[in-house]
Amino acid sequence: MLAAAKKLFLFRQQGDAKTAILDDVELEIGERDFHCVMGPSGSGKTTLLYLLAGLDEPSAGSVHLSDKDLSQLAENKRTLLRRKSVAFVFQYFHLLPNLTLAENIGLPLWIQGKSTGWEPIAKDWAERLGLGDRLHALPHELSGGERQRTSIARALVGGQPLILADEPTGNLSQKAGAEVMDLLRRAVDEEGRSVLLVTHNPRDAARADKVQFLLDGRLVEDPVLHGPDLTVEQVHEALGQLHI
Ligand SMILES: Nc1ncnc2c1ncn2[C@@H]1O[C@H](COP(=O)(O)OP(=O)(O)OP(=O)(O)O)[C@@H](O)[C@H]1O
Ligand SMILES: [Mg+2]
Repeated sequence: MLAAAKKLFLFRQQGDAKTAILDDVELEIGERDFHCVMGPSGSGKTTLLYLLAGLDEPSAGSVHLSDKDLSQLAENKRTLLRRKSVAFVFQYFHLLPNLTLAENIGLPLWIQGKSTGWEPIAKDWAERLGLGDRLHALPHELSGGERQRTSIARALVGGQPLILADEPTGNLSQKAGAEVMDLLRRAVDEEGRSVLLVTHNPRDAARADKVQFLLDGRLVEDPVLHGPDLTVEQVHEALGQLHI
């Protein structure tokens, strides 16, 4: 098992009330899985990905990466395990503002100790994402779509077995989005990595092997869609059934 959430709860104080942002979530991601979670804005999708990545801590329940319970690990061990196991495509990119596009993409390689030799690899990934002519640009000089593709390249470059992708095509044209989905699909089919995708886009969701729905912090038991060969219509139908 690459990642698992067991009886996961997250409570947050909102005004006077304590709200369950995640409510008893159970989830497992194995090798070569391509799973997708859909749900309305505010249903807890980003929060769930953060907890799975160990970037935030649950109020109750546990998160396991590579069969290790994160809550049982000391901070430094948890950081190391996270770096080794998980690549994250952030909804709002989180690029480092003072690093160039190429340096942002190469960052995971630096962190893995490849302080030399990272440059051609970063350049190669930049080219695959159509960013080959912007290598030296700083994030504030990039369009939203270019920033998004930079953050996707950064997630793909490090080779971690699990990619958590939070609306990775949200700022892209249909064509650029389809290309990003091709890259994620290939990471699973050709490299044997796993992807957990969060998206609002039924066309992207249909490329996953399993689609689940999150409503008010709860993963819905029915419907759950299973691939291969999911259709956009099936995804639309499920969204309609759940009034999403
Ligand atoms: N730091 C925080 N403090 C309090 N509440 C928060 C905090 N971060 C998020 N929330 C709340 O938690 C809920 C889930 O937020 P989350 O970002 O996980 O939603 P989401 O499903 O990713 O939405 P979107 O589709 O808009 O990205 C929302 O009600 C949000 O307002
Ligand atoms: Mg979100």
